[in-house]
Amino acid sequence: MKRREILIGVGALTAVGGGGTYGTLHRMGSMTDYDAAMATTRAALSARPGMLEFIRMATLAPSGHNTQPWRFRIGKDHIEIVPDLSRITPVVDPDNHHLYVALGCAAENIVLAAGAGGYRGTVGFSAANDSVVTVSLEDGTAGDMALADAIPKRQSTRTEFDGQQVSNADLQALSDAAGIPGVDVVLITDRLRKDKVCELVIEGNTTQMTDPAFMRELKHWLRFNPREALETGDGLFSVLSGNPILPTWAGPGLFDCFVSAQSENEIYASQLRSSSGIAVFVSEASGPEHWIQVGRSCERFALQATALGLKHAFVNQPVEVAALRPALADLVGLGGRRPDILMRFGHAAERPFSARRSPQAVILP
Ligand SMILES: Cc1cc2nc3c(=O)[nH]c(=O)nc-3n(C[C@H](O)[C@H](O)[C@H](O)COP(=O)(O)O)c2cc1C
Repeated sequence: MKRREILIGVGALTAVGGGGTYGTLHRMGSMTDYDAAMATTRAALSARPGMLEFIRMATLAPSGHNTQPWRFRIGKDHIEIVPDLSRITPVVDPDNHHLYVALGCAAENIVLAAGAGGYRGTVGFSAANDSVVTVSLEDGTAGDMALADAIPKRQSTRTEFDGQQVSNADLQALSDAAGIPGVDVVLITDRLRKDKVCELVIEGNTTQMTDPAFMRELKHWLRFNPREALETGDGLFSVLSGNPILPTWAGPGLFDCFVSAQSENEIYASQLRSSSGIAVFVSEASGPEHWIQVGRSCERFALQATALGLKHAFVNQPVEVAALRPALADLVGLGGRRPDILMRFGHAAERPFSARRSPQAVILP
C-alpha cells in the first residue's frame, strides 16, 4: 500500500478514534509548532558559553533510537556524564556499546563547546565510578569553531541523497576531523564495496525486522505525531523517516501493517545507492573506553560533514547483528576487529530536526 493510501486510511481511522477528525488532528499537534520548538532547541551556540550551554550542546548529540541515555553533573572544573540505565536498549544493544558511543558523542560536543569558550576539555572516566565519563575543563585557547558551530545544525538525515560525489578535498577534511586515537575510519566510495555494504545492511535489517523482540523495543521508541515527539522530547519521530503523521493510538498498529522488512530494505537500497560514500568506524579494541573514543570520532565526522554542507545518516545493521561483523571487518581490511559504527554521507536537503529533552531535565543535583 502506498503512503497516500495510508493517509486516506488514517483519515477514516481518526473519525473512528473518537472526538472526530478535528479533535484528533488537534491532539496530534502541528509540524509548524514542532519546527518552532526545534528552532529553540537548536539555537546557535552562545557567544560566551558556560557550563549550562556546554550541557545543552551535549544533549544535541546523536544516540541510538534517540534514547538520550545520559545525565549530567556539573562540578567546579569538570562535567560528569552519567549513563542513564533506565534508557538502555538491551535487544539492539545488549552490551551497551551504542550507549557508550552516544556518551562519547556527547562528551565531544562538550569538548568542542568548551573550546569555543576558551577551555581545554579532556575526556576520561571518574575515579570514583568507572562507568561515569568526565570532561575536565581547564583554561586553554579557542578550539575548532567550525565544528562547535555545527553542533546545533547536525542532523541524521534519513532520506535519499542526491547521488553527487563528495570532492577529494572534502573526503580528506572528513578523515582529518574524525582522527581520534585508537579509532580507524575507512571511507568507502567505490561502487563494488558500497554494494557489498548494502547487502549487509539488508541482511541485518531483515534479521532485525523479523525479530519480535527487536520490533517491540523499536516501537517503544517510535513517536507518531508532533505532539508525542514534543511531549517526550526523545525517540524516533516517524515523520523524519518520511512517514505520515498518525494518532498515537493508531501508530503502532499501522506500523505493523505497512512497514515490513521488504519495504524497508527497498528504502535502504535506494538510500545507500544515492549516498556518496559510507564511513566505517573501527576501534582498536572493545570496551567502554574504546566506544567513547568511537563516539568522539563519529561525532567529529558528522559535525565536519555538517560544516561542509553535507548530510549523514547511521546505517548500523551490520554492526548490530553480530554475525555480520566479520564480513564487514574483512571488507574494510580490518579483519579480526569489531566494526563499531556505519554512517552514509553525501548531499541532501535539510529535514525537520529530532527532539531533545531540555538540559534542565537531564542535569543531576
Ligand atoms: C550509537 C548510535 C547508533 C545509531 N544507530 C542508528 C541506526 O542504526 N539507524 C538510524 O537510522 N539511526 C541510528 N542512529 C541515529 C539516531 O537515531 C539519531 O541520532 C537520533 O534519532 C537523534 O537524531 P539526530 O541525530 O538527527 O539528532 C544511531 C546513533 C547512535 C549514536
